[in-house]
Amino acid sequence: MSTQLASTQPASTAPRSGRPVAVVIGASSGFGVEFARRFAARGDDLVLVARRSEPMAALAAELLASHGATAHVVPLDLTEPDAPARLLAAVAERDLAVHALVNSAGFGSFGPFAATDPDRIAREIALNVTAVTVLSRLFLPALLAAPAGVLLNVASTAAYLPGPNLAVYAATKAYVRSLTEAIWAETRGTGLTVLALSPGPTQTEFFAAAGSDGFKVGQILTVAEVVDVAFHALGRRNPPPSVVAGPLNKLTAVVAGLVPRRVSLAVARRLTAQ
Ligand SMILES: NC(=O)c1ccc[n+]([C@@H]2O[C@H](COP(=O)([O-])OP(=O)(O)OC[C@H]3O[C@@H](n4cnc5c(N)ncnc54)[C@H](OP(=O)(O)O)[C@@H]3O)[C@@H](O)[C@H]2O)c1
Repeated sequence: MSTQLASTQPASTAPRSGRPVAVVIGASSGFGVEFARRFAARGDDLVLVARRSEPMAALAAELLASHGATAHVVPLDLTEPDAPARLLAAVAERDLAVHALVNSAGFGSFGPFAATDPDRIAREIALNVTAVTVLSRLFLPALLAAPAGVLLNVASTAAYLPGPNLAVYAATKAYVRSLTEAIWAETRGTGLTVLALSPGPTQTEFFAAAGSDGFKVGQILTVAEVVDVAFHALGRRNPPPSVVAGPLNKLTAVVAGLVPRRVSLAVARRLTAQ
């Protein structure tokens, strides 16, 4: 099955523009929208991916008007196993010069593990873990071949500590952080910049999708502040493998790794108690 790309240029007149292309996964709301705006402001064209077309079409029109950027809208459900390969094929069909991939799609589930719908757990792992892994792998050759490639995977402060009442979510984000840091190590010296971004609680559609504000724990930043942290890290001469957004969130992540597990888990359980 082929994937249709809708773009702000007619398909037949969309040649390789010479502009680098950033692929943003999760571009219909939250961090993904802000990442798309920042890449467009830097002179990139975009591929916007999520399930909902309408917000992405509106964003594409905005990016064209404000930055002259062409944004290709690709509606995809990334919990479908063949979705990453369909995206890669659609990008290849367009001959787009992809230099950046931002994996920002993800969702959480609040509540005790024993009470969480098993189908929802499977979708959460499919999106937060499998899609991020497969997309990172499929796009890596293009990112490595690009003059200044960027792979940015959105993890979470939940990656730094198992999460009572958000057990699966925290585990998926620990995976994203671990995977991304390993790719960082494997690709050192290649010119590719790899970064795991760990935001703390940030006002997006995330909490509504998770079904609760119950794990809004930590230093609260705005979406723009979080994305600033990411671009600051990407712009460093020697970019780190991981960055936590917000000094208090960073401190919490460090302390969580130092104190005995039973202590940090007891604190986490109290903070996320329903
Ligand atoms: N907000 C926070 O407090 C926070 C903190 C730490 C980490 N994070 C992480 O930040 C990332 C972005 O979240 P956000 O805060 O920006 O939340 P958001 O506003 O809910 O955005 C989530 C994005 O993922 C997309 N998405 C969800 N399911 C999808 C699917 N099956 N296929 C394709 N796309 C899908 C959504 O688009 P559609 O619904 O249109 O598909 C949306 O664009 C996530 O990985 C999240 O875990 C968020």
